[in-house]
Amino acid sequence: PVELRVHDLLKRMTLAEKIGQMDQISVVRMQGDCQWSGGDFTPSCMKTVLKDNAAGSILSGGGAGPSVNTPGNWATMVNAVQKYAVENSRLHIPVLYGVDAVHGHNNVLGATIFPQEIGMGATWDPSVVNAEGASAARAVAATGIDWNFAPVADLSRDQRWGRYYETYGEDPLLAGSLAAAAVKGIENADGAKHVAATVKHFAGYSVPSNGHDRVPADVSQRYLQDTLLPSYKAAVQAGAQTVMVNSGAVNGIPATSSHYLLTDVLRKQWGFQGVVVSDWQDVRALQDSYHIAADYPEAIAKAVNAGLDMAMEPYDAQGWSDGLKAAVDRGLVSVQRIDQSVERILRLKLQLGLFEHPYVDASKADARVIGADTDLARKAADESQVLLRNDGNVLPIAPSAKKIVVAGSYADDINDQLGGWTVGWQGVPDGVKAPGTTVLQGIKEAAPSGTQVVQAKTADDAVAQAEDADLTVVVVGEKAAAEGAADAPRPELSADQQALVKSLKATGKPVVTVMIAGRPLVLGDADGTQGLLMSWLPGSEGGHAVADVLFGKVNPSGRLNVSWPKDIGNEPLYYQQLPGTNSGPESSYDAAYPFGAGLSYTSYSFGPVTASSATARTRDTLHLKVAVANTGSRDGDLVVPVYVSRPNADVLAPPTKLVAFTKVHLAAGESRTVSLDVPPSMLAVTPGDINGAGPQQVEPGTYVFKAGTQSTTVTLH
Ligand code: IFM
Repeated sequence: PVELRVHDLLKRMTLAEKIGQMDQISVVRMQGDCQWSGGDFTPSCMKTVLKDNAAGSILSGGGAGPSVNTPGNWATMVNAVQKYAVENSRLHIPVLYGVDAVHGHNNVLGATIFPQEIGMGATWDPSVVNAEGASAARAVAATGIDWNFAPVADLSRDQRWGRYYETYGEDPLLAGSLAAAAVKGIENADGAKHVAATVKHFAGYSVPSNGHDRVPADVSQRYLQDTLLPSYKAAVQAGAQTVMVNSGAVNGIPATSSHYLLTDVLRKQWGFQGVVVSDWQDVRALQDSYHIAADYPEAIAKAVNAGLDMAMEPYDAQGWSDGLKAAVDRGLVSVQRIDQSVERILRLKLQLGLFEHPYVDASKADARVIGADTDLARKAADESQVLLRNDGNVLPIAPSAKKIVVAGSYADDINDQLGGWTVGWQGVPDGVKAPGTTVLQGIKEAAPSGTQVVQAKTADDAVAQAEDADLTVVVVGEKAAAEGAADAPRPELSADQQALVKSLKATGKPVVTVMIAGRPLVLGDADGTQGLLMSWLPGSEGGHAVADVLFGKVNPSGRLNVSWPKDIGNEPLYYQQLPGTNSGPESSYDAAYPFGAGLSYTSYSFGPVTASSATARTRDTLHLKVAVANTGSRDGDLVVPVYVSRPNADVLAPPTKLVAFTKVHLAAGESRTVSLDVPPSMLAVTPGDINGAGPQQVEPGTYVFKAGTQSTTVTLH
């Protein structure tokens, strides 16, 4: 019936109505004088967007929403938009409403805010990522929204890049597995309304050549195919209904106009059947920024012919309508090509149930729904904590501690702990305080009654207070920001923070550094404290999570999903760097803390790794078993990663590459054998000489699989 309805609608639509469906307009274009002035909707602006230009979709980019930011007001706002569209469009077609709920419903004040993706990646736990996706979907659905621009499936490989914290990490398998889990969570959440996920930013967005957002990427076909594409592919094949395009150019072609990416790879190779949306104003960018189109109709034609279905914020609705119409009149775009996109958009609306249920009950959109999942957010934040240093078992803090000093400007700042894309685009706007627990509050709540917790607000005070303290917790970090503004040519801890930690170290009293940041910051003079806990941007429950680990309520189980550079000159840094001749394969990767690092309060051992067979065919899935044991005295969750190396590869292989992982609970003293499968896709590489050619293949030869210190060898033929 969905297909019949799609075709019935399409048959009755005018060209102008079809063009409108391919248009996604910001909600602010319906307010005030229709240009960014905020305030209430005005009927004339609603009419221009939703009736005259029949826009198929509306978005609240970066959280643009009602002036009084409550869940009920969001639902009322979205219902009002929907009502206008349903009642005033000739065929009563509802709009798709999209937001960036990338870590909970982060547009609404009072929502449960999960760790940013970088912290979710450090959990190495698809089940908690899946649950976060479902929680975000329930929350946005309660406010009438049916499209979530999440997850990000880009890989973070350069700490300078400002959107590093929006990724699940540097590894294709880890990022792809978690993005796939998020897609399933978002799209299969229980609730009255279905929500579509978006795999973004397809493809190669995260490797701009100089670390600045939206600067072109130049990558070999081999790097693209073997390293950058797999995480998007995993998320797309998990069932994602939409894909958002990279704003940047890859190998000299803007992704928005790349037929290779949007059609050959995405649709023909991967079988994607959903909707492809551009990023913000990117169709116009083909003309204005990239200068590959003489005018707007030409720019539109390039994008649509490449495979784009919907343009996000094409400046104004009228411009898009006129532009695409002109492109058709000039013979640059065929009506058949437009029909294809409109079919996909209508199919999505029908699949989401929008025609039957265009509205939500705004009276039910309240804090109990939007802020319901604090336990889950705390679990996610707990699992995301990565303990990197624990000299002399300074942690967990002994219950006998009499005095703890809490220092550092990130100790009591909830907004920075939430990060960008929270309430506002660049993070919670100044003057607005989002709910949540800071690290200081978390420590105060968790400290035993006999332990005094003192906040030191200045460096001098911190040093003075440390003199008679058992321990100082110094909370350092980086200001919240988002696209563009978060780029950092020098991703290091600021000089004043380095000086603070240095002076605390000089007191001779134990110091534990907690970092609240979306990327590992070079520590400089702050290096070498007894304890180091990477907390990322841990969300509204972050203060509880940090305290859970500091006081030992939680045994830390997070592992680095990225590489921590020693120096800013190390960028870009990632563990899959290919070997060179000026250094051995191991020493060319010289991280302060490597990918996979992370301590716990118990000890683990890895026993033998075995394969079901010592030889196999290149098309076989390999079945491995890894023996693990908790040899300590505390229960814990252990990440079990399996890496492959190639002693005789035809195409240069990284010294090690993650090919399988799982996370298991091990009671104190428990031993277990874990089964892990390695499908051929994990071993496949692009063959050919320096340009790389054709589809990936698994090379015959020797494969060494390693877990912990143990390994096994399989010969493939
Ligand atoms: O979804 C985002 C994207 O990640 C960056 N540009 C704006 C979009 C909508 O807010």
